[in-house]
Amino acid sequence: METKGILLKTISASRALSQLNGAIRNLPNPTLFLDTIHLQEAKASSAIENIITTNDDLYQSLIADKKFENPETKEVLRYKQALWLGLERLEARPFITTNLCIELVQTIKGNTAGIRNTPGTTLSNTNGEVIYTPPGGEDVIRQKLVEWEKFINDDESFDPLIKMALMHYQFEAIHPFADGNGRTGRILLLLFLKQSGLLDIPAIYLSEYIIQHKNDYYRLLRGVTEEQNWEKFIRYMLEMVEKTANHGLKRLENVTQLMEFTADSIRAKLPKIYSKDLVEIIFRLPYTKRQSLIDAGLGTPKTVGNYLSTLEEEGFLVSKKVGKEKLYLNTPLMNILENSVLE
Ligand SMILES: Nc1ncnc2c1ncn2[C@@H]1O[C@H](COP(=O)(O)OP(=O)(O)O)[C@@H](O)[C@H]1O
Ligand SMILES: [Mg+2]
Repeated sequence: METKGILLKTISASRALSQLNGAIRNLPNPTLFLDTIHLQEAKASSAIENIITTNDDLYQSLIADKKFENPETKEVLRYKQALWLGLERLEARPFITTNLCIELVQTIKGNTAGIRNTPGTTLSNTNGEVIYTPPGGEDVIRQKLVEWEKFINDDESFDPLIKMALMHYQFEAIHPFADGNGRTGRILLLLFLKQSGLLDIPAIYLSEYIIQHKNDYYRLLRGVTEEQNWEKFIRYMLEMVEKTANHGLKRLENVTQLMEFTADSIRAKLPKIYSKDLVEIIFRLPYTKRQSLIDAGLGTPKTVGNYLSTLEEEGFLVSKKVGKEKLYLNTPLMNILENSVLE
């Protein structure tokens, strides 16, 4: 597996990742953009499984009081919740385990399903032909997951990025759940980057690459099963890391620049309402509302209401009525998020 090509790619992918890591660490507030990055990840990873939502729906339902009924948006929001839960669990205990996977899938699916215990799970292509039949029987699956855990937590004979590719394939091949395996497996990628110390704050949007190269993803997973073609699959995974790290870095620079520019203009045009905290709030998520400003300690409902309407008058935000509430959109920020075409 560790051909010269793979090793060179491992080096360039690691380099890209450590540049991103450095850039995030140097931010004045390193977790500021984490919510949006994780929401983009949740949206794309779910879209790979044909669970489709829009940014507008997603960000509005995150912030509005109104209960959104769109089941797909809800599922995407649960995905993000699962990602957070996983990161929290790793803080407490830095091991990827079977139980952690079960917690993740239950959070994503919003149910209490566990390891598959009924036969009949198969993977089909778009023509309905069965392309892969994963192992069956709860005991068999659990035993395989024990080996898988050992590999992740004890084996030190691979570079972490190669190991990440291997463990992803193995997880998908075991396919421990009736549904949610793809999404759980992709959350594990981010958790693994954190666990192995490659990215302190896992602010990377890996599924952006997979959604744009989805056919290859499926084809290469299959290539490992049918032809033991590990090399092509590992290369794909390394390319994913390198491309999304580079793109993430660029996007981070764009957002930071936009934020500085916006801060300067607000300071110049509206010195009475300018504060660093106010600027951060309108960049934390593309939509904001009065309550978010109140929660951030920026003032009374009346004061912050004035802030928002003044920002709208000066063209920094655009208000939208959602249910009975007014939400305020930071349009240029949303545009940067929407523009996710990798080179
Ligand atoms: N040939 C294959 N062998 C193993 N796993 C595969 C193969 N093809 C696709 N997969 C994995 O299965 C996932 C889909 O499984 P599924 O349980 O439906 O996940 P989800 O509910 O998250 O959609 C894909 O995203 C991919 O990771
Ligand atoms: Mg599915």
